[in-house]
Amino acid sequence: MQVRVTSVVSLAHGQARKFGFERGGEVCEGFVLRSGQDLVAYHNRCPHLGVDLDMGEGRFYSALTDRIICSSHGALFVPSSGFCDAGPCAGDGLERFELELDGVDAVITIADVDPDPRW
Ligand code: FES
Repeated sequence: MQVRVTSVVSLAHGQARKFGFERGGEVCEGFVLRSGQDLVAYHNRCPHLGVDLDMGEGRFYSALTDRIICSSHGALFVPSSGFCDAGPCAGDGLERFELELDGVDAVITIADVDPDPRW
């Protein structure tokens, strides 16, 4: 499936915009994050316990570590890849979505089947 997230090009470094999607009958959430010149999109789901990374607050980025951070137990994820390099789920990673720009919007492509059905 594809989801359009509007006006993402104006996001500043470290800022994110959340979006919703449905998969397998479940309501899910993702986010687009600006990291330097790049825009990346991930499922808002920590591989440690399957909870929202931001605990509903909309904050995903830690400037101190230059990492995406999970607010629950502090797992850190490399913004460009989603790889967890510190914390309780080190070695695991976020589900990354393909992102294409269409003008100022992002078009996010999400797999129909959850690649990590643990949660
Ligand atoms: S739930 Fe994310 S680090 Fe524990």
